[in-house]
Amino acid sequence: MNNIFLDTIHGKKTERPPVWFMRQAGRVLPNYRALKENYTFSELMEDPKLAAEVTWMPIYDLGVDAAILFSDILVVPEALGMSLKFTDAGPEFGAPLHTFDDPVAQLKRDMSKLDHVYGAIDKIIETRAEGKPLIGFCGGLLTTFCFMFRDNVRDITFKNATEFLYKNRKASEQIIDALAEVSIEYALTQVKHGVQAFQLFETYGGLIPEDLYLELFLPASKKILNAVRDAGVPTIYFPKDLGNGIKAIDKEVADFVGIDWRMSLQHARDIVDPEVGLQGNLDPRLLYASQPEIEKVLNEKYLPFGRDNQKWIFNLGHGILPDLPVENVKFVIDWVKSVDWGRK
Ligand code: CP3
Repeated sequence: MNNIFLDTIHGKKTERPPVWFMRQAGRVLPNYRALKENYTFSELMEDPKLAAEVTWMPIYDLGVDAAILFSDILVVPEALGMSLKFTDAGPEFGAPLHTFDDPVAQLKRDMSKLDHVYGAIDKIIETRAEGKPLIGFCGGLLTTFCFMFRDNVRDITFKNATEFLYKNRKASEQIIDALAEVSIEYALTQVKHGVQAFQLFETYGGLIPEDLYLELFLPASKKILNAVRDAGVPTIYFPKDLGNGIKAIDKEVADFVGIDWRMSLQHARDIVDPEVGLQGNLDPRLLYASQPEIEKVLNEKYLPFGRDNQKWIFNLGHGILPDLPVENVKFVIDWVKSVDWGRK
């Protein structure tokens, strides 16, 4: 398969950067909203035919260069015995871990809970749109850990998780190890079913001090990413808000690192191992602005960076927000694909 996304992630030169957006397969798309009139998020994700339709939707409706599996990071705790519900306000676990005296003893592995994801991948591959590649993913270990302790669907402080982490270091390490073990098997099975790149979504990478993140979460994250790479699939690690901690992500850890909007791409380029590619980092909220204002930022900040840097995947600094004007999302993608990047 010849594709600009795969060429870039495998280190080949291309005329322009590839473009895809985190959370591109969601509510910003009118065709997705139409499906949501008839199906819940869980139904869309668990039915292989519907999951495949939604996975390929952004290829047709937005024109991105790669698709990402339509699923969620929180299916992994389900494979550790936790019961999960997606409510209108967000995901909720029936019994968050801090409600137990011995949370580690609660974790009971049942990998069959993930079978629907592999069924979805098979259908996605069978119905591949325009020869485009498929990105697989799983949740970062801290982010997943945080949600496993959450008892209020609106909480983004993750008090229960951080309190537990500081009070029960050993049990926390056991939970992280259990998550990593399941994630490795999950990721490798995604690879077996045909994903061609793999991203680790560590959305809450900035929740705890950088040194603690690197000590407690980086080694197990590296194991997941290395297992995928050893299976022949390139990896993207997105530790959002880790700041200068991304220096620790060298080629031994991942092939690409995702950058959020707080740090400039050039600063990230200056501090990250030159062998590691970058992905990011447009502030999704810029897409609320007018198209001339958006274009100004693209021309001033992104064009010079992309001219000089081949190891770069154009993306947002976090996921698409549900209420962004879809015409502005499309405007950015069209700009990336049509501007003269001046690469030699
Ligand atoms: O990128 C994609 O489009 C692929 C699918 C995908 C979803 N979730 C679908 C989804 C991916 C990669 C995720 C990752 C995810 N899930 C993360 C990490 C990335 C990030 O955005 O921070 C997190 C923290 C979750 C957990 C989660 N799932 C939350 C907090 C919510 C509710 C809030 C929200 O974003 O809508 C979900 C639900 C969810 N996952 C939806 C989608 C399309 C919305 C469901 C709906 O349409 O009602």
